[in-house]
Amino acid sequence: MNNEIFFPENEFIISKTDAKGKITYCNELFINVSGYDTKELIEKPHSILRHQDMPKVIFKKLWDDLQKGHEVFAYVKNKTKHGDYYWVLAFVTPSHGANKQFAEYFSVRRAPNKDTVRNFIEPLYRDLLQQERTGGISASARYLEDLLKQKGLTYEQFIFSF
Ligand SMILES: Cc1cc2nc3c(=O)[nH]c(=O)nc-3n(C[C@H](O)[C@H](O)[C@H](O)COP(=O)(O)O)c2cc1C
Repeated sequence: MNNEIFFPENEFIISKTDAKGKITYCNELFINVSGYDTKELIEKPHSILRHQDMPKVIFKKLWDDLQKGHEVFAYVKNKTKHGDYYWVLAFVTPSHGANKQFAEYFSVRRAPNKDTVRNFIEPLYRDLLQQERTGGISASARYLEDLLKQKGLTYEQFIFSF
């Protein structure tokens, strides 16, 4: 319970979802690291892995960007079936169906740099969560926007500046 799980740096945790975020495919590493078996994952919402330390604003940005047709990078802390956790750097992409609706989403995740997570992402997410506790998602969104403005960086430039 509450132990950090690590996976090899040269391997990727992969999943696909339908337009609503329900899991339609996951690779073997996904299954091994998450602790769930395929039957428990397929057709389930991806939020099955949601960790309470994740700020809502990060997922809002993920979905807003995907629905605009953009690719997204995000650091995500996930919870395993057994209550442990693992950090990933996810690259998420939308793909169109024939009718131009977003038919599915694809996420490829690698092991993030541990120091980056400890020194920058954990403190950032703690601040965002704190904002959400007091002022909701509008407060954390404003906090993130102000931080980016102050630094003169886009969100992607910011998360790759650490
Ligand atoms: C392709 C794809 C992969 C996702 N992977 C994760 C993930 O690994 N962990 C997670 O908590 N949410 C993931 N999400 C986001 C979830 O759909 C959801 O927005 C998030 O867990 C927050 O859940 P909530 O909105 O019910 O609070 C993913 C979404 C997509 C489209």
